Amino acid sequence: MKILAISGSTRKDSYNTKLLHVIKELAKEDGTEVEIVTLNDIPIFNQDLESNLPKEVVELKHKAGLADAILIATPEYNHMIPGVLKNAIEWLTRDSGNVLEDKWLAIVGCSDGGFGTVRAQLQLMTLALVVNMRVKGRFRFPISRAQDKFNEKGELSDQETLEKLKTFVHNYITFLHRELHV
Ligand SMILES: Cc1cc2nc3c(=O)[nH]c(=O)nc-3n(C[C@H](O)[C@H](O)[C@H](O)COP(=O)(O)O)c2cc1C
Repeated sequence: MKILAISGSTRKDSYNTKLLHVIKELAKEDGTEVEIVTLNDIPIFNQDLESNLPKEVVELKHKAGLADAILIATPEYNHMIPGVLKNAIEWLTRDSGNVLEDKWLAIVGCSDGGFGTVRAQLQLMTLALVVNMRVKGRFRFPISRAQDKFNEKGELSDQETLEKLKTFVHNYITFLHRELHV
């Protein structure tokens, strides 16, 4: 089984991208491949370009289309998902080729504040339903005060959060196996 993991942060030292790397390692233990992508090179959506898609978009659409499921790590910007993430979802979901259609989505997110991206996650859930993805409320994982949970090596050093994340990843993968028969 293969999961495409999209980081909604373009920041070099992003906690969200670090979280995806932790999840990638945990998923390996369950025999699942997680490929991580960032959106740094995805151009701004422009309907005029749809007849000749930029190569970065073609590549992203290809990866998303082949994936058994999608995982998104979203930061929270002004209580919402970042523009780059919304932008990528426009490219991925146009009627001419919605590669996210019927894909199961899990949402994770790190913030440096106390709410752990829960507002952005709810917004992303709504958006996912609009673009015909499949979501479950329980497949969301927020991490608040990320600066206290990761160490300088990028490891999730907060043991309580790590244990919860392990359970989350295992439950999500078990669910996907059952649901997708892969
Ligand atoms: C434009 C902007 C808006 C932000 N708004 C929020 C917010 O609404 N809620 C929140 O918890 N953190 C907010 N933050 C702080 C982020 O949680 C913090 O920058 C976090 O590290 C971003 O994720 P990253 O480390 O993956 O880049 C904001 C940051 C920026 C740059």
